[in-house]
Amino acid sequence: MFFSKGKNLVGLDIGSSAVKIVELKELGKGRGYQLLNLALERLSPEAIVDGAIMDAGLVVDTVQRAFSARKIKGSDVAIALSGHSVIIKKISIPATSEEELAEVIPWEAEQYIPFDVQDVNLAYQVLKGASGGEGNMDVLLVAAKKDKINDYTSVVSQAGRNPVVVDVDVFALQNCYEMNYDTDPGVARALVNIGASTTNVAILKGTTSIFWRDISVGGNHYNDAIRKELNLSFEQAESLKRGEEVDGIPVENVNPIIASVNDFIGAEIQKTIDFFKNTTPGENIETLVIAGGSSRIPHLREALGERFGIPVEALNPFNRVQIGKGISSDMVDEIGSSVSIAVGLAARRAGDTR
Ligand SMILES: Nc1ncnc2c1ncn2[C@@H]1O[C@H](COP(=O)(O)OP(=O)(O)OP(=O)(O)O)[C@@H](O)[C@H]1O
Ligand SMILES: [Mg+2]
Repeated sequence: MFFSKGKNLVGLDIGSSAVKIVELKELGKGRGYQLLNLALERLSPEAIVDGAIMDAGLVVDTVQRAFSARKIKGSDVAIALSGHSVIIKKISIPATSEEELAEVIPWEAEQYIPFDVQDVNLAYQVLKGASGGEGNMDVLLVAAKKDKINDYTSVVSQAGRNPVVVDVDVFALQNCYEMNYDTDPGVARALVNIGASTTNVAILKGTTSIFWRDISVGGNHYNDAIRKELNLSFEQAESLKRGEEVDGIPVENVNPIIASVNDFIGAEIQKTIDFFKNTTPGENIETLVIAGGSSRIPHLREALGERFGIPVEALNPFNRVQIGKGISSDMVDEIGSSVSIAVGLAARRAGDTR
């Protein structure tokens, strides 16, 4: 996941509610990207539960459908993991050389990760402080469960593609933001990607990430609440929350349910932001940047603005991406909010390894 040169990969985001694919072409130095392909295929909610693949066949079919719906040919893909199977920690260790670091990392990791080191893939990056110098150096340590990596990469292989890079949602989210916006070194922003079952939070100061967290909340909470209150199916609840007509059920019945879940989601995000503030004194978050399919929930943006008292902006994953021929602006508008992770992944390159 720490990155090198090479060809852009196909960004494949296997979310629990939908598979998203983005293919980009880099236009040359400083000229940004062009969007070559974009696809979204919905996935049944029982296929992936709490980030665990429960029905691999269904996920493979959906990935294949997403590729074939838009005739996407690229075969080398970047995927990402999130949730409990990934641990990201900034650790401080006595400064050592690059070679020594490779040896000490597994030992250091043992203290910081709640899994057996044998069961994880480790990646790391020195954040600051010269290798071999005096004192301590900060290292970003990432540990991902091998069985989870294996579950996701084998879905990709079974769908006939090569999983070349395994990234992490919060890093792909940050990458998407940095591709599309200028960053001001003194300003801290919270990027909040609200999916179906998970909300990824990445806090950046300039281009430095200073905090990462996946929270187990998302759009499914709306479906559950609507389902229970109005005695409906998941699919009916899904349509209602998107503002679609269902069996003449008046919106007045749905709006208060959505508003109360907006409150709940806001409170969960606030817990994370408060935790960040308590553990990182002196940092002030100036803007909230929201993304993810659930960022389109009616009035969620306003509710977050009121709660946090700071501007809430929608992340446009194509802010600096030219939309290629054959991709309708309707499609971009319709699914743009859901593809930030896929866009961040599509800018990764072969040779970026973990
Ligand atoms: N127009 C819309 N209005 C309201 N909610 C929407 C809309 N479009 C999508 N959603 C919701 O957004 C969620 C999907 O977003 P996204 O694609 O970012 O999640 P995911 O990657 O599948 O999920 P996760 O990352 O949590 O596994 C679903 O809960 C879906 O119902
Ligand atoms: Mg997602």
